[in-house]
Amino acid sequence: MSQHILILAGDGIGPEIMAAAEKVLNRANEKFSLDLTWSHGLLGGSAIDAHGVPLPDVTLDAAKKADAVLLGAVGGPKWDNIERSIRPERGLLKIRSELNLFANLRPAILYPQLADASSLKPEIVAGLDILIVRELTGGIYFGQPRGIRVLENGEKQGYNTDVYAESEIKRIAKVAFNMATLRAKDGVAKVCSVDKANVLEVTELWKQTVTDLAAAEYPDVKLSHMYVDNAAMQLVRNPKQFDVIVTGNLFGDILSDEAAMLTGSIGMLPSASLDENGKGMYEPCHGSAPDIAGQDLANPLATILSVAMMLRYTFKQEAAAKAIETAVGVVLDQGLRTGDIMSAGMTKIGTQAMGEAVLKALG
Ligand code: IPM
Ligand code: MG
Repeated sequence: MSQHILILAGDGIGPEIMAAAEKVLNRANEKFSLDLTWSHGLLGGSAIDAHGVPLPDVTLDAAKKADAVLLGAVGGPKWDNIERSIRPERGLLKIRSELNLFANLRPAILYPQLADASSLKPEIVAGLDILIVRELTGGIYFGQPRGIRVLENGEKQGYNTDVYAESEIKRIAKVAFNMATLRAKDGVAKVCSVDKANVLEVTELWKQTVTDLAAAEYPDVKLSHMYVDNAAMQLVRNPKQFDVIVTGNLFGDILSDEAAMLTGSIGMLPSASLDENGKGMYEPCHGSAPDIAGQDLANPLATILSVAMMLRYTFKQEAAAKAIETAVGVVLDQGLRTGDIMSAGMTKIGTQAMGEAVLKALG
């Protein structure tokens, strides 16, 4: 039976990068007889314009029915000043939460062809391949109470709540331990759990729960713990000490941007957000880049690589996933670059040409 994908191109550069990715998906679908079908929906600013809300019911229903969701990017200055509860980002947070996509996998891989793109010395980042496992549906992003209230003295006060239940910590730690086991190098599976247990009780429980789970069920995983401030520092000092990093929603948001930048090219990094059953939403790590939207300047490779991740994790089509990743490598070997990853001696091309080049390499 054919399986179905909901495509949400989103705002800004979203439609352009998605057009390129969709062509690659189409080619892979034919070439590997994947029997996938897809349809389109609105999320974020485009949905606000059409329906008045960033996640319309039709989109949510379609997303629930689909086997996977492929997302471009949402948001832009046009919607920055509308009421907080219906901003584009709220649509993204709601779809993550409604679909229970608690496990966010954010790889930071330095393509050897792009070693010059990093702001760090080549010896620090050469061969970098780490995976951040970010909890995505809990913590301070969703904790209640939250809001902005007026105090008795008339002053406004903003407040949020960071909460994690043991079950939420356990299920994300399991994902991290399983991923590390799959990735184990020289037989060693390595996980670093990042917290702020010296100050925040919520992460004191996080640390304890992760430790207990490792002892009970993953005795072979080499588990370490690091405070988030130190982790932020270690990521730029010696990033290759890490393999899998597991952390909560807010720390994961911050550290994954930092890790992405180590590779010099956030335009290259895909991500997967998975539920308990492997259903997922796949999206590039970068945002909607409204400043370059509609100019054929955006790098579509992160979205194309998100297609590969989708084929791998939700549809279990490893050969097709690998073929797309290999095609991206071929295009980089050919010296083709969008502006964000451009360096001396390479050939600068636009979004569409980059998509076409990947199609050609895919064959
Ligand atoms: C991300 C983004 C989102 C987040 C925003 C757009 C709500 O920064 O996916 O990392 O904070 O989760
Ligand atoms: Mg972020």
